[in-house]
Amino acid sequence: MTAISRSASGKLILCGEHAVVYNRPAIAVPVDQIATSVKIFAKPLAEKGLVTILIPQIGMESNLKNLPDSQPLKHSLAILQDYFKINHFPACDIRISSTIPISSGLGSSASLSVALIRALSEFLGQKMDNEEINRVAFDLEKIHHGNPSGIDNTVITYARPVYFIRGEEIEFIPLVKPLDIVIGCTGIRASTAQAVAGVRERWINQRLKYDEIFSNVGKITTQIRESLRQGKISDIGLLLTQNHKLLQEMEVSCDELDELVEAAMSAGAFGAKLTGSGRGGNMLALVDASAVEQVKDALTQAGAVSTIHAIIQPSKGVG
Ligand code: PMV
Repeated sequence: MTAISRSASGKLILCGEHAVVYNRPAIAVPVDQIATSVKIFAKPLAEKGLVTILIPQIGMESNLKNLPDSQPLKHSLAILQDYFKINHFPACDIRISSTIPISSGLGSSASLSVALIRALSEFLGQKMDNEEINRVAFDLEKIHHGNPSGIDNTVITYARPVYFIRGEEIEFIPLVKPLDIVIGCTGIRASTAQAVAGVRERWINQRLKYDEIFSNVGKITTQIRESLRQGKISDIGLLLTQNHKLLQEMEVSCDELDELVEAAMSAGAFGAKLTGSGRGGNMLALVDASAVEQVKDALTQAGAVSTIHAIIQPSKGVG
């Protein structure tokens, strides 16, 4: 049986998370080393509308109709059915697999949305350009995260480093050198929606303090953009570590993340910070290629449940 197969990468927020919700800039990069794959197998002889969802990693094999309406994938497919203006999907199996850890700030939900939209648009013969894919993926992100900034779906759709300000035109950053990044996972799953809501509550109660933190994050992000353009890797490292301090002030870090950041710095990283919404999930360390193994080992010794070496290639940023 021939299948339509589409995949989408994971992502890292290099800097600016949380402040980006308050219209400050953030930078995100695609991570090709982790990805989601969606395969659609047509079943022309099966009963109309019979869609089977298969996610072998979590042991799911279910008729779409039998999933609860609140299930995010069912909700996403209902939105896509409306978008494609069809009463039901042609009978098919939708098989999903992913190497992106879930609920940990590496873009698992946006990656699934982008891969799913691409596979379905091909399956249904309805062409979509990146702008359209990004717009629809943003609608699906709202199911997962309530009030997302849109940075995750944007970096994953375009698969290039982006300098992102909510509501403004997307700016791509041309890298001049590869970035070697070691990602360390705390193993703690944390809800983005809860972390974002927590920051909002504190912002409402301590507006001046939080506005100042967000503005300082914005300044750091703009400086990182310049250093990326000039390939000043060690400058970027210092700025990333400053960003982590501001995230601590926002109260979105935790002991486990702080310990991994410390460990990476002691092992020679240029800089390190939490990435994504925090309170668990992952941290990143910017390193020299020669230091990758020692930083990975240090993170493992400091309690990381897994590490990933992500290489962000300049070709991704050209243009
Ligand atoms: O989905 P995560 O964990 O990568 O975090 C998203 C980044 C936030 O700035 C915290 C929220 C957002 O929508 O931009």
